[in-house]
Amino acid sequence: MIVLGLGGAVSHDPAAALYIDGKLVAAAEEERFLRDKHAKGKMAYEATKFCLDFAGIRPDQVDVVAFPYAKIGLNSPARWHYARRYWYAPDRALTALFNGNRRYQRNHKQVMKLLDDLGIGSSRVKFVPVEHHLAHASSAYHLSGFKGKCAIIGIDGKGEYATTFLGYGENGKIHKIKEFYDPDSLGGLYGALTEYLGFEMLDGEFKVMGMAPYGDPKRYDFSPLLTYSGKDFHLDTKIVNCIGLRRYRENDQSFYFSQKLVDWLGPKRHGDEIDDPYIDYAASIQDLLEKVSLELIEYYLGDIIRETGKVCFAGGVALNVKLNQRIIALPHVKELFVQPAASDAGTAVGAASYASVAAGVPVEPMQHVFLGPKYSTEECIEACKKHLEKPQWQQVDNVPETAADILAKGNPLAWFQGRMEFGPRALGCRSILGDPSHSGVADRINAQIKYRERWRPFCPSILDRVAPEILQTDHPSPYMTFTFDVAEQWKERIPEVVHEDGTARAQIVTRETNPRYYALIEELEKHNGNGVVLNTSLNRRGEPMVCSPEDALNMFYACDLEYLMMEDILIKK
Ligand SMILES: [Fe+2]
Repeated sequence: MIVLGLGGAVSHDPAAALYIDGKLVAAAEEERFLRDKHAKGKMAYEATKFCLDFAGIRPDQVDVVAFPYAKIGLNSPARWHYARRYWYAPDRALTALFNGNRRYQRNHKQVMKLLDDLGIGSSRVKFVPVEHHLAHASSAYHLSGFKGKCAIIGIDGKGEYATTFLGYGENGKIHKIKEFYDPDSLGGLYGALTEYLGFEMLDGEFKVMGMAPYGDPKRYDFSPLLTYSGKDFHLDTKIVNCIGLRRYRENDQSFYFSQKLVDWLGPKRHGDEIDDPYIDYAASIQDLLEKVSLELIEYYLGDIIRETGKVCFAGGVALNVKLNQRIIALPHVKELFVQPAASDAGTAVGAASYASVAAGVPVEPMQHVFLGPKYSTEECIEACKKHLEKPQWQQVDNVPETAADILAKGNPLAWFQGRMEFGPRALGCRSILGDPSHSGVADRINAQIKYRERWRPFCPSILDRVAPEILQTDHPSPYMTFTFDVAEQWKERIPEVVHEDGTARAQIVTRETNPRYYALIEELEKHNGNGVVLNTSLNRRGEPMVCSPEDALNMFYACDLEYLMMEDILIKK
């Protein structure tokens, strides 16, 4: 059975994912093909074409199309909650009650058009709408590989109406225990503060999290932003996650917070220069997010966690690696699985896996994220020949050894290999690498790729046999979705990838999932004794991760990086 999952239900991060008989064959974000970060307002045309091409499937062979957005009935508390809480914007409140599936209709029309445009056939194929948070839940639970019962958490900005999902999975079925609805959204709250701190929502949340360890959460009490009881929470929409006239405005732009927040905390942060007191605000919002999330998890899922020790998590907030570290540290948690494409791109996989299981075809656990396009050495050479900068390339016999030599001399290296990653993290196929024992390499990367965000710490990829010693745990971490405390003796050995608070957002690399990357780190280990490489994504600020050899060359020549290893060829400036 062939199931195509499509993301893009909430106007950003469209993606496509293809399941064939329960196996995830291909998945990719549309932004990578369009070269437009988050591809806002687009549908996943190019990503769908890629998935079908890669699998060698004709459009008319697709059996099921799953979409992570469903109709919400008037008997659901969601629309009533929304209407009640948005009383201050009566047009929105009334729309929720009288025309509450307006967005669904719009989405449906766009998807049907895509299916017809691509020859899949809207009237032929079976269309399965999946509630947004069920899609997130499925992307976590069905891909976790957990046997037996496990707790499921979903936290994001919002889907149709739901913002937070707490439930469990058992025998291949997802059960809902509790949902919270817009505007009561932890993702929305964090997003509003992200805007206040001068970053873009959907993108800047990582930077707020990166800023937080520099500040003191005790200096400012952020509890007025919401009321919560451990079992319930309500945002104060007079301050945050507000719409219409309540929104703060600046130069024709409006924000998800109000004038009240500015009166309370001072002007919205501009540029990236002023740190004080904004780093303390970052610390406070991170602290509040952790506190409320952990209390909700305990209240609704505590019993299940004590029974099973297994938790899985998706939704944009699941990319908050600090929160994830706290979840792992809960006394009865044995293992946390976070869907690596936790934000909305991952709902393509979520909807598809949900529909596959519902049709009686169980899906395989996630093995890796290398689900995008790949290019041969010949294709890389072709791209060089066509490129305006006339790159000089040389074919390399031993790629890992040559790459390790470059790194060991303190050079950053652009590393383009194999299939592009699905999800926001570069995990060794579209990466910029450095030797983390080489002091100053992080600054060097920042200088060479220009305009890299200050508040994004660099992260390590670690060989599986070394990781337990460095991270002091056996917890799996293949996708850089958790931070761990770095062992004291390692902090000095790999200073460039240890954050301000002594943690590292680590990827543990196995030979089976990425043999060439593993071999490279082993070669680097021969130079310096550390089975660790600094790894950041191959893109410049504001750009999506590189997809094709042409993208890699464009990026390489638009910055000061000096070395690019693309499959078996090395390009030097
Ligand atoms: Fe979402």
